[in-house]
Amino acid sequence: MNILLLGKNGQVGWELQRSLAVLGTVTALDFDSADHCGDFSNPAGIASTVRALRPDVIVNAAAHTAVDKAEGEPEVARLLNATTPGVLAEEAARLGAWLVHYSTDYVFDGSGERPWVEDDAPAPLSVYGATKLEGEKRIQQSGCQHLILRTSWVYAARGGNFAKTMLRLGSERERLTVIDDQWGAPTGADLLADVTAHAIRHLAQHPEDGGLYHCVASGETNWHSYAKYVLDQVSQAQAAIKIKATEIAPVPTSAFPTPARRPHNSRLNTRKLQATFGLVLPHWQQGVARMLTEIL
Ligand SMILES: NC(=O)c1ccc[n+]([C@@H]2O[C@H](COP(=O)([O-])OP(=O)(O)OC[C@H]3O[C@@H](n4cnc5c(N)ncnc54)[C@H](OP(=O)(O)O)[C@@H]3O)[C@@H](O)[C@H]2O)c1
Repeated sequence: MNILLLGKNGQVGWELQRSLAVLGTVTALDFDSADHCGDFSNPAGIASTVRALRPDVIVNAAAHTAVDKAEGEPEVARLLNATTPGVLAEEAARLGAWLVHYSTDYVFDGSGERPWVEDDAPAPLSVYGATKLEGEKRIQQSGCQHLILRTSWVYAARGGNFAKTMLRLGSERERLTVIDDQWGAPTGADLLADVTAHAIRHLAQHPEDGGLYHCVASGETNWHSYAKYVLDQVSQAQAAIKIKATEIAPVPTSAFPTPARRPHNSRLNTRKLQATFGLVLPHWQQGVARMLTEIL
């Protein structure tokens, strides 16, 4: 199997380099790769890359993920999250290749408390969410064989993330304030990469199972409880990092105004993914504990 991986150095892209390696020959590109264009701001270059490499499977881990920055540069966000994924999908359709792509809980408006299912009506609150939704639609309309995994609150041992920020702040300050009214599931880039590899194998035998799926770790939390969990784990581990913070105060989203609005309810129902692919999604605390052990 020939696999083209785009966005190889992002959180998910990095883990995909590991998980896809057992499936075949992987050509992994970043925006500044020398041999082939991997730059999503150049859709024609990306199309040329697909035509030259003729992969069986394209896995797209590249995206404009700076949610607040996207509010000030909607054209750039649209190019990276919608236009170029659409071009990729057209090239995949022409070639008969599979396209694997990632999307987000931010396609929803965050109302209610029920975990969103794949068929729920999207209503993004931000430029990031709107451009990711447009990317999904372009892929679906291209007619290519595809797998779109919507996920949330991605973290990885490599790169910056919320847990690492809490670790730093918790070792510097005695009191932290963290939002407690946004709900979701922290999801490891390693879990997403492993699910992707399993799904690609499954789809080779069952192409009828392609489509849109929600893929997040099990359980749910809010940012405040997530922060508490991280700092408790580190305090118990007697790591070199000493946690100073004795108080983590819960605050509403309104206490931290940001350019992009974020959904309150980011819970995603994963029943369809688990049933179709015969997978079990572990509890979010399991992956976060493992990541902390890795970085401490
Ligand atoms: N992170 C989350 O919490 C989250 C939540 C839900 C869904 N997702 C989705 O999951 C997927 C993977 O996200 P992630 O967490 O791995 O994000 P990430 O770490 O930000 O990775 C995205 C990658 O795309 C690269 N990129 C930026 N501009 C590019 C360009 N012009 N051409 C090619 N590559 C470019 C980035 O490079 P630089 O780092 O150098 O800019 C980065 O390596 C994305 O589709 C994202 O929308 C993420």
